[in-house]
Amino acid sequence: MTTSHDDRVREQFRLQAGTFDDRGWAARGLEWIVGQLRPGAGDQVLDVAAGAAHLGRALAPHVRHVSALDLTPEMLDQGQRLARSAGLGNMAFLVGNATALPWLDGQFDLVVCRLALHQVADPAAVVREMVRVTRPGGRVGVTDMITEEPVRAETNRLERLRDPSHGTTLTLAEIHDLLAAAGAEVTSTATQDQPLDLEDWMHRTATPEDARAEIRERMRTELDGGPETGLRPSRDADGVLTFVHTWATTVAGIPGFTSNV
Ligand SMILES: C[S@@+](CC[C@H](N)C(=O)[O-])C[C@H]1O[C@@H](n2cnc3c(N)ncnc32)[C@H](O)[C@@H]1O
Repeated sequence: MTTSHDDRVREQFRLQAGTFDDRGWAARGLEWIVGQLRPGAGDQVLDVAAGAAHLGRALAPHVRHVSALDLTPEMLDQGQRLARSAGLGNMAFLVGNATALPWLDGQFDLVVCRLALHQVADPAAVVREMVRVTRPGGRVGVTDMITEEPVRAETNRLERLRDPSHGTTLTLAEIHDLLAAAGAEVTSTATQDQPLDLEDWMHRTATPEDARAEIRERMRTELDGGPETGLRPSRDADGVLTFVHTWATTVAGIPGFTSNV
């Protein structure tokens, strides 16, 4: 029996769902992203591949309503639980595939996706769907970790070694091209570095020990002067390894009629 990419994603995030809480790594960058998106009080928002809807829940107090869609039911359960305990009353959670959104064209004012383009099997299809369900004059916001040439292939090899459900970390130019090809016009981009503890990163995905050893060794090789991984490792005095993901938030407008009159 073959396992599809989406099956691997569901299996991986069923296991990870409990780690997507509001205290640690998963809650990073939200204020920064919301600041780029500039939500409006009347906005109908969609959070695509929302997971536990960290971004959707951060937007909810600023907008009219947030829908959160994800492939993995356990991630949405976690988001629903956290939304309930925060007293949010303007959210809906829906299991579905971001490559075939169950909405008509132009239904949302703001459609966002955080840290998921690198995970999906077909990022172009996801961006096309995000743009399709955004109204003319509305906005699309994409936040994801990015890579660059010439380290793109090696970064993605190590990411997949850690998590077999990893799709492809894209370059910023590729994200911009996907938005443009879908008909959106990029209006702003900002980047932020996110330092990560290597052992915690591999623990969260229950990476097998042989793969962990290979990733550690590859980071040490770079630190000892070998070829770059694209993950910018560093080692403290106790030998603890950390590395860096660069996140980019890109906001793009959907051309067309903008008046609310
Ligand atoms: C790294 S998590 C990020 C979750 C969330 N956006 C966040 O910022 O915390 C990636 C999410 O993408 C979801 N996902 C992957 N492929 C998907 C698809 N085709 N449709 C919907 N969700 C998908 C996974 O289930 C997972 O919840």
